[in-house]
Amino acid sequence: MAVIENSKVTVVGAGSVGSSVAYAALIRGSARHVALYDIATAKVEAEVLDLAHGTQFTGSSDIVGGSDISVVEGSHVVVITAGAKQNPGQTRIELAGVNAGIMRKMMPQLLEAAPNAVYVIVTNPCDVLTVLAQEETGLPPERIFASGTVLDTSRLRWKLAERAGVATSSVHAYIVGEHGDTEFPLWSKATIGTVPILDWVTPAGDRMTVEELDQIAVDVRDAAYKVIQGKGATNYAIGLSSARIVEAILGDEHAVMPVSAVLRDFHGVDGVALSVPSVVSAAGASPIRETQFDPKELELFRRSSDALAQVASTLRG
Ligand code: 2OP
Repeated sequence: MAVIENSKVTVVGAGSVGSSVAYAALIRGSARHVALYDIATAKVEAEVLDLAHGTQFTGSSDIVGGSDISVVEGSHVVVITAGAKQNPGQTRIELAGVNAGIMRKMMPQLLEAAPNAVYVIVTNPCDVLTVLAQEETGLPPERIFASGTVLDTSRLRWKLAERAGVATSSVHAYIVGEHGDTEFPLWSKATIGTVPILDWVTPAGDRMTVEELDQIAVDVRDAAYKVIQGKGATNYAIGLSSARIVEAILGDEHAVMPVSAVLRDFHGVDGVALSVPSVVSAAGASPIRETQFDPKELELFRRSSDALAQVASTLRG
């Protein structure tokens, strides 16, 4: 893709997720300037060097970084990945306390360095942290949102494409709600091409059943636990999905993506950040109010909202 001239994304946190976001952004040419910031000097400088050593083989993006907050200056987009990650079997919600503390400490410095940036929160639990960060910074909700279920939707589309025998880009299905255990697919609107998902005939000549789709939804919901169990963390897919979100912002694409911004009077949900299809542009994320839910989906959506509202209320200082 053509790199947007003088565009800059800073990734905060040089752990496995942050370094993977930077790596994906370099390879995809998501921004002209990719910066990596972390308070751990030796670590971030080593990650920047290792990434820089490969830039002969990437496009026209460059990589800089370090542990001085000045690294963040001039960013159009700031992707926040800093914080504790899940241990095997641990839920994302269990990270809320420690990562809320890190977020509270970090945000004022970031805002001072990049007051006009769009902020994308990846650190988990990303939905809850988005509510707290929006409240505490006072940024407009569209300018500080979470990567949400963009990654989960990619997992869902991968599974469905494989079963249906089509390109992933031809699977139009979304995971919405929490980026976590209460997420769910919007099956009522899922199609392959223009064909409703349950009507699609696979290369084997059969159709997917409701039971099969329900199992796929469970596999997607639990995908991170499986990867974490095997390798200790997830990083590649969250790196790629975050780089894609950065591109939609920097390119002012007005692309529809299931990111998570604080919702206002949205199908009965208010003051909670949840992933719904949203228009992502240079202004940030704008949830699509016309998104439709069938009665079962609306119940699941409100259940997701109640779960997260409860967690957020326990974290408010
Ligand atoms: C993921 O879903 C852990 O939230 C991260 O891969």
